[in-house]
Amino acid sequence: MDMKLGCFPSVISPRSSWPLHAAPSVPSMITPPSVPLSSHLSYGIASALIDHPGRCTLIRAAVVKAGWGVYSCRSTVRVPFSHRFRPAASLFSRERATPMEDQDVNRKALEETCLTLTNAGHGGPPVSIPIIGLGVYLMNNNTAFKAVSHALQLGYRHIDTAHLYGNERAVGDAIRASKIPREEIFITTKLWNSDHGYANTLQACDHSLKELGVDYVDLYLVHSPLSPPSIRLDTWRAMEMILKSGKARSIGVSNYGIHHLKELFSNCEIRPSINQVELHPFNVRKDIVDFCRKENIVLEAYSPLTRGARLNEPALKKIAKEHRKTTAQILIRWCVQKEFVTIPKSAKPARILENSQVFDFELSEAEMSQLDSLDEGWVVAWDPTKAQ
Ligand SMILES: NC(=O)c1ccc[n+]([C@@H]2O[C@H](COP(=O)([O-])OP(=O)(O)OC[C@H]3O[C@@H](n4cnc5c(N)ncnc54)[C@H](OP(=O)(O)O)[C@@H]3O)[C@@H](O)[C@H]2O)c1
Repeated sequence: MDMKLGCFPSVISPRSSWPLHAAPSVPSMITPPSVPLSSHLSYGIASALIDHPGRCTLIRAAVVKAGWGVYSCRSTVRVPFSHRFRPAASLFSRERATPMEDQDVNRKALEETCLTLTNAGHGGPPVSIPIIGLGVYLMNNNTAFKAVSHALQLGYRHIDTAHLYGNERAVGDAIRASKIPREEIFITTKLWNSDHGYANTLQACDHSLKELGVDYVDLYLVHSPLSPPSIRLDTWRAMEMILKSGKARSIGVSNYGIHHLKELFSNCEIRPSINQVELHPFNVRKDIVDFCRKENIVLEAYSPLTRGARLNEPALKKIAKEHRKTTAQILIRWCVQKEFVTIPKSAKPARILENSQVFDFELSEAEMSQLDSLDEGWVVAWDPTKAQ
């Protein structure tokens, strides 16, 4: 049963023996929404750090409708903006009335903080995509198996691979080995450029499904627009067929510029749900982002960590220090607050964990603007968005 925000303190007990209702300042800490509700963000975790002389108490709740959690800065607590909470039995043991450990809460946030994908023109149900996934570019099969296995244990439920990466088989193996039900894991793979064209696309999709050892993927992307327009459009017709046949729950594009999207809109029956492009504060791509938002296409940020190249930027380090986070976490949190799906890659267990721990703090508007101002249109991967 959903609870009104006003009931929040009474349904969730604090971690310590200090009773929450005994803190005189608690009710005033629960503030009204400070951020507009997102049409995309469908589920999240609310967190609040209640500061009290001598002790801190962490309370959290699952947000049913929208929003993600923030921690307080000392005495200023901002609880996210959903008006409707539910007691979140999965987060809190009602019998013992104690919250789960921090990593369990982080795992829950990672599993359940999602955006919604819609393929306009299809009429199928919207599809939830976990906002953070694990990218597996440049991992061989052995590394990919270990990284995906570890990520799934930590609560990642979204893996981003591609035919090009040559590790679809290991991704599928790790998913099966995890024993997590298939439907709880979001798998993206991508159609490589050499497979463009109607028949080739259908065949390439079947091949990827076989490598992954699954009946369907959750998202199938055209990896880039790098083909002549007529072949691009034939490719997309096949993508529509793949969606209709149930081999992909959602279809989208990657590295598409505005002119590629407009070309597609004028010639398609079903629109892409998502555009995966390089996005980070050093390349904010305002034009593509604004256009996609206007057209209800979700943005997905690849190379969110700039492949490590800009992690020592002084402005980034300053913000990281203030939040006691790493610069990598600041970059990922920037994506989350922009409502970009993002897929940081790491093969290192400690970094896979670190990259997921971004649900317990919030960048202020000023910090977000400061990060946006680092934009210099700098590309670390490749940039087919401008291709003809
Ligand atoms: N659609 C496309 O055209 C396209 C293009 C590029 C990428 N992608 C996708 O996006 C994913 C991510 O992009 P990316 O791999 O290019 O780059 P990225 O995620 O920005 O950065 C990955 C690099 O950062 C390092 N790293 C990861 N976490 C770190 C941390 N916490 N602290 C310091 N260094 C860290 C990794 O090293 P370790 O592994 O050693 O930790 C790796 O060298 C890819 O894996 C792929 O799935 C798609």
